[in-house]
Amino acid sequence: MNTIDLKDTYLKFFESKGHKIIPSAPIIPENDPTCLFNTAGMQPLVPYLKGEPHPEGTRLADVQKCFRTNDLDSIGDTTHHTFFEMLGNWSLGDYFKKESIGWSYELLTKYLNIPVEKLAVTVFKGNEIVPADTESAEIWKSLGIKEERIAFLGEENNWWPNMELLGPCGPDTEIFYWRSEENVPEKFDPEDENWVEIWNNVFMQYNHEEGGKFTPLKNKNVDTGLGVERVTAILEGYTDNYKSSVWKDVIERIEEISNLSYDDENNTRSMRIIADHIRAIVMISGDEAGIRPSNTDQGYILRRLIRRMIRYAKKLNIDINSDWEQELAKLIINKYAKYYNELEKNKNSILE
Ligand code: ALA
Repeated sequence: MNTIDLKDTYLKFFESKGHKIIPSAPIIPENDPTCLFNTAGMQPLVPYLKGEPHPEGTRLADVQKCFRTNDLDSIGDTTHHTFFEMLGNWSLGDYFKKESIGWSYELLTKYLNIPVEKLAVTVFKGNEIVPADTESAEIWKSLGIKEERIAFLGEENNWWPNMELLGPCGPDTEIFYWRSEENVPEKFDPEDENWVEIWNNVFMQYNHEEGGKFTPLKNKNVDTGLGVERVTAILEGYTDNYKSSVWKDVIERIEEISNLSYDDENNTRSMRIIADHIRAIVMISGDEAGIRPSNTDQGYILRRLIRRMIRYAKKLNIDINSDWEQELAKLIINKYAKYYNELEKNKNSILE
């Protein structure tokens, strides 16, 4: 299943479960000057998680444009990206643990055809605010997840976002996939790096307030997040995300432009950086917020990405006075305009 099928299957599945599919919010937060970029699907939904009625109802799903600056120096390895897409579904005081976990399981095993033997989960082991989440563990067991594949972990792992950040939060259950040629061990060891997290279901019931208080939210909500890049690579059997259908055509175009091979290790890292950055550049400059390269805030990040991309293009001996970056940008625009139609609308300014 390629990356487009993954997004379509996810959204169609949740639509069939009564969810309204909402468009991605802009990559730049609209009402939060403390953040430069949206880093998770729930971020634009904070007012609704706090109890404000959402115009589209109580069941929502989307694919959200996200950008994280903290991984900038790791870009060039097989798994880190600046821009990424997060699939998510939300219950705003509607369904809770049983449906949320049941639907995650159904989608993964019946629609994405992941064998249950390759799955494991973590659940919250409890703290002074909420007791151990035995309810979620029982639901997982009733679906066929064996006891030895369920780990109870503390707030460092199973509380989202964490105990320090203010705003809506709660315990979560995370789903892991065995990404290795080796036989799947009977017992789940969350420390074993072959187990990779693919989906997080957060049971958002608290608001962390200034002063350290955790007050119950008006509603018991569900917030989930599934990383498109990682799950696409898993479904296609790659450990290098850049070999998957998210990037394959972009890497091939960079190979054509530079006349070099991705598999030659002298080029691999540079090509990954160019592929990552051109997509982020298109998404930031194509956003309705109208960000342009500058010395401050998002514009500074955009400028940094452009400069860094050019530096690596020079390493590959690409003629930087040719229209190589427009060619790559057009490829990205065509590929993503289906989900983010502002890219088509803002095409000229992106290319400029
Ligand atoms: N908000 C949760 C996350 O980003 C689902 O992991």
